[in-house]
Amino acid sequence: MSQKIIISPSILAADYGKLAEEITKVVDAGAEYIHIDVMDGHFVPNISIGVPVVQSIRKVTNAVFDCHLMISNPIDYVDAFISAGADLISFHVESNSDIEKTIKKITSAGKKAALVVKPNTPIDVVFPYLSEISMVLIMTVEPGFGGQSFMTDMLPKIKALRQEIERQALAVDIQVDGGVDAETAVLCKDAGANVLVAGSYIFKSPDVKKAIEILKA
Ligand code: DX5
Ligand code: ZN
Repeated sequence: MSQKIIISPSILAADYGKLAEEITKVVDAGAEYIHIDVMDGHFVPNISIGVPVVQSIRKVTNAVFDCHLMISNPIDYVDAFISAGADLISFHVESNSDIEKTIKKITSAGKKAALVVKPNTPIDVVFPYLSEISMVLIMTVEPGFGGQSFMTDMLPKIKALRQEIERQALAVDIQVDGGVDAETAVLCKDAGANVLVAGSYIFKSPDVKKAIEILKA
């Protein structure tokens, strides 16, 4: 499968003391998206970035802001994240918000919507919504923390989703998130993923440009 690979560095692994610099560094190194992990300490057992941070870093770059909402009630925060500068909003099918209504809220504001599935959620849950969304995010770790190991048993979900997208003749992106590095990126791309999130692998690398090139290759 020779589709263009998009890289979305997860700033969860960045140094927050110099966030603007960290973002500029990965964008200059070839990253098209910036992955922003929003956690509420409720949907996942961790707290991370919120609306004011998104607003501040919006001034730093024109890269696509890929906001991954790991929060219980995403629909209640869609407007705030869009006003802050989100371009793409991903929310979990396991959240409490109505899937259809949340997608509509995002797309009617002119932004891209994506559905996210946790490792134990079957992929066919997203099939009825494919024509309304831009991307599906398949979690390859349990959401909540960076630096975990990639779950290879998620690969069949990627393949099944790619098949279904082709069957419906759609142009939906498949994003993977969690434990993506030089080796696991190959497995993801072979299975049909085309948007790769990587936190630790990119930000902990001594040569960010090279790390991004390797993921894209
Ligand atoms: C985990 C987050 C990920 C995380 C990935 O809940 O959704 O985006 O930052 O980190 P790495 O690439 O270090 O596994
Ligand atoms: Zn994420």
